[in-house]
Amino acid sequence: MNTETNTLTSPVTINDLQAMKQRGEKISCLTAYDASFSAIIDSSGIDIMLVGDTLGITMQGHLTTVPVTLNDMIYHSQCVSRVRQRAFIIADLPFMTYATLEMAALNAAKLMQQGGAHMVKLEGGKPEIIKFLVAQGIPVCAHLGLLPQHIHQIGRYRVQGKQNLQAEQLVNDALAVQQAGAQLLILECMPASLAAKITQQLTIPTIGIGAGINCDGQVLVLQDMLNISAGKRAKFSKNFMQDAASIQAAIRLTMTPLNKACFQH
Ligand code: KIV
Repeated sequence: MNTETNTLTSPVTINDLQAMKQRGEKISCLTAYDASFSAIIDSSGIDIMLVGDTLGITMQGHLTTVPVTLNDMIYHSQCVSRVRQRAFIIADLPFMTYATLEMAALNAAKLMQQGGAHMVKLEGGKPEIIKFLVAQGIPVCAHLGLLPQHIHQIGRYRVQGKQNLQAEQLVNDALAVQQAGAQLLILECMPASLAAKITQQLTIPTIGIGAGINCDGQVLVLQDMLNISAGKRAKFSKNFMQDAASIQAAIRLTMTPLNKACFQH
């Protein structure tokens, strides 16, 4: 959590997140999809609200994120951004909405202009697309490791980068997306040692999910940490309601170093 003077009320910027990496202060991030929960998350002091395309699973009842459309993402980003006072908002570009440079730019602009997002996130090592978006003034969060939009190509959700070659490729991809201008990087489902290596080599903050405790920050899916998922909870995610008397208390617990262990495989 950002602890500088007055930061509980002043809006979080990309500069704050960058400064937190430099100070070695952990960045907190939760997924957010609607106004009621977002107001609680925001007032709890979480640094980033991610309008993730996991909403296809948590909100819409799909089995994967593939069916999520740009209009779905705009709608949910609006629900979140209407009540946001402090947290930095990142919204996902859903499946096939960034297949070309032009599509990526037009769709990212809609997430920002109509949805109120401060940054867009896209999956995979795609330096050309990132470079193009950044050149138009669109802030980008890259996403490496397990890529849920590729589920029908990879067959099942599993840890990525266990073999040396794959690990090397992920390090190279991380350096390439940073070089292209990405300002944040999500690392999903990879060995803790690999995520730590990438985090050390990059100057931009890394936010891990199922990637160990040594990323610059952690992201959790709200429904998983509250233990209200319709499906199976990810095995690295802890039920924070177990030790909390309220939703806000559970959300605050995700920001305490004592709970870092839950981020490990
Ligand atoms: O869509 C999402 O919520 C995400 C997180 C799981 C990182 O991409």
